[in-house]
Amino acid sequence: MPEIKSILVTGSNGQLGQSLTSLSLDYPQYQFTFVNRDDLDLSNMNSVSEYFKNNQFDLIINCAAYTAVDKAEQEQELADAINHLAVKQLAKITQDQASILIHISTDYVFDGTNHKPYVENDKINPQSVYGISKLKGELAIQSIAPKAIIIRTSWVYSEYGNNFVKTMLRLGRERESLNVIFDQIGSPTYAKDLADSILQMVVSFTAYSNVFQQESVHLYHYSNEGVCSWYDFAKAIFELSNIACTVSAIESKDYPTPAKRPHYSVLNKAKIKQNFDLTIPYWKDSLQACLKNLQKG
Ligand SMILES: NC(=O)c1ccc[n+]([C@@H]2O[C@H](COP(=O)([O-])OP(=O)(O)OC[C@H]3O[C@@H](n4cnc5c(N)ncnc54)[C@H](OP(=O)(O)O)[C@@H]3O)[C@@H](O)[C@H]2O)c1
Repeated sequence: MPEIKSILVTGSNGQLGQSLTSLSLDYPQYQFTFVNRDDLDLSNMNSVSEYFKNNQFDLIINCAAYTAVDKAEQEQELADAINHLAVKQLAKITQDQASILIHISTDYVFDGTNHKPYVENDKINPQSVYGISKLKGELAIQSIAPKAIIIRTSWVYSEYGNNFVKTMLRLGRERESLNVIFDQIGSPTYAKDLADSILQMVVSFTAYSNVFQQESVHLYHYSNEGVCSWYDFAKAIFELSNIACTVSAIESKDYPTPAKRPHYSVLNKAKIKQNFDLTIPYWKDSLQACLKNLQKG
């Protein structure tokens, strides 16, 4: 396998994109190009083709996505264009340019009826427009079969953009009490940990050149270690930030949302840990690290 030198990161203004941007400084051996929506609009097939006529990379890390889960119920076509059709196009480009694609997917490809952590080949059954669009993106990669890695992750938060942690910090300071759902169970993912693991994986491709010899598309699960409900997550955010807001546990049925969420979406990470020798931090430790970074501003 040719050595990886040039890396394109799409969605550079997103949580994962910004986390990769920050960590890329520790990897001077790679030449990174970070593109945002203005540089490369994934909803526009012509602009994507034009871009890759003039640009070629050894590796593409696709962090761009339509991530507005509830809004997607109304914007099915746009969600499909970005999460499915653009991913299909990136897979073809990867194939044509003999490069490698790392693509990020979601726990929302599952219906949440499992009682034990989901492994990569568990039955998929997305319950929302967003989940369906992300699954179609996965399937497009599988059918085109470039050298690719698909990483499903869950409950992503970071110092950047909008996410549950930042929303709770704001609401917790504004209000005396909050209702938070306790019947959706999953594992939070600190975007910095995922970004760090992705870069460690890239380093190992070069070291173990046979990664893609047996099968071209590899599917993995990644989140932080441990399990919690959104209620537990909110409690931990307030405890670690010394915020006195009281949290009451409510059921999903008392907080209706346009998109249906899985009740249980814990991902089993054994495969990614074993194949890439990764150590994944416990979710509360990573939460504490993120809160510290947020405090530093
Ligand atoms: N967030 C979660 O809880 C979660 C959970 C499971 C899986 N994931 C997956 O993890 C990946 C990274 O998520 P994230 O949390 O970093 O998402 P994010 O913060 O919402 O970032 C997504 C990025 O995609 C960009 N984007 C949207 N439409 C685009 C278009 N037409 N062309 C180019 N770029 C476009 C956005 O640009 P703008 O900044 O201009 O809007 C944004 O910067 C995604 O694949 C997501 O599906 C996320």
